[in-house]
Amino acid sequence: MSTSESKTITVIGSGLIGRSWAMVFASGGYRVKIYDNQPGQAAKAMTEIRKQLEELEEACMLRGELTAAQQLALLSSYEDLAQALEGSFFVQEAVFEQLDVKQSVFQEIERHVGKDIILSSSTSCLVPSSVFSKVQIPSRCLVSHPVNPPYYVKLVELVPHPETSATVMDTSHALMTKVGQAPVCLKKEIDGFALNRVQAAIIAESWRLVQDGVISVKDIDLVMSEGLGMRYAFIGPMETMHLNAPEGLEDYMKRYGEGIRRVLTSFGPVPDFFGEGAKNIIKEMCKLIPSDQQHLSARKERRDQLLMHLAKLKKDH
Ligand SMILES: NC(=O)c1ccc[n+]([C@@H]2O[C@H](COP(=O)([O-])OP(=O)(O)OC[C@H]3O[C@@H](n4cnc5c(N)ncnc54)[C@H](O)[C@@H]3O)[C@@H](O)[C@H]2O)c1
Repeated sequence: MSTSESKTITVIGSGLIGRSWAMVFASGGYRVKIYDNQPGQAAKAMTEIRKQLEELEEACMLRGELTAAQQLALLSSYEDLAQALEGSFFVQEAVFEQLDVKQSVFQEIERHVGKDIILSSSTSCLVPSSVFSKVQIPSRCLVSHPVNPPYYVKLVELVPHPETSATVMDTSHALMTKVGQAPVCLKKEIDGFALNRVQAAIIAESWRLVQDGVISVKDIDLVMSEGLGMRYAFIGPMETMHLNAPEGLEDYMKRYGEGIRRVLTSFGPVPDFFGEGAKNIIKEMCKLIPSDQQHLSARKERRDQLLMHLAKLKKDH
């Protein structure tokens, strides 16, 4: 593998996540070839990326050591898959979240690449053994699950197929670290990976507390944004416990473990997210933020601005 080859990555699919991956990899100095099967889509993505990189540079929020122009020069768009894959050592797929689409995309990719090229999927909800069930060499395959927007929220969950080699996990971890992401390695695949399992637990108990008339929608969100979330942006639940008792985690469990067990046994069943009970929760939420595009877009913009500032704060500390 020549030096230029080892610096080239192909991104398959140029929607929201594909564009973000391209920006993240280019920020780390990699040459990125963007492919989309919709005519004109990859070229459109380039225009959008150019706009975003220029805005980020203007706001002093551009990632990496290179200027926006230098990063742009690393990017190119393709409508031919074979050309898009030529010379790449790592392929990041970001197509629709449909099992059959992903399976056939990887089958097609395998026809064009050498056997040591790493194949990585962005899937949020599909386990690697399903996504890669039709590939010839599953040992080179993994899921690299980003969090939206990956440019500011840097976590990437690396999830192995049962046959993924340790070298592929290590190389992917090193790549993600080099481009400034925060990779975590799952030791085996599981439905929902780690992030969405923890998120599902939080959603379930929040929903139950509102549905049971314990707290309002507005206030349960404050429990997170003004309470737990304040420290979780910097330290996780394990370190939080370790620091919250004079002698660390063991001491914490001696003091609070029984109480946590008692509370856990009082948790209800999986809530009803769709029926009559859900209607009131949705109504209460929409009173706070109406679900028309204008209101939602304004709040999304606010969220991304705040995440941008938080990312900067985390970078500086
Ligand atoms: N949006 C999120 O918040 C988020 C977060 C993490 C992971 N993901 C995952 O990332 C993936 C992409 O999501 P997205 O939000 O960017 O979707 P999207 O709909 O914005 O983009 C998908 C792109 O893939 C292209 N595409 C579809 N089939 C293709 C094919 N056969 N070959 C090449 N290109 C093809 C489409 O033209 C489109 O441009 C999904 O698997 C999703 O689950 C999304």
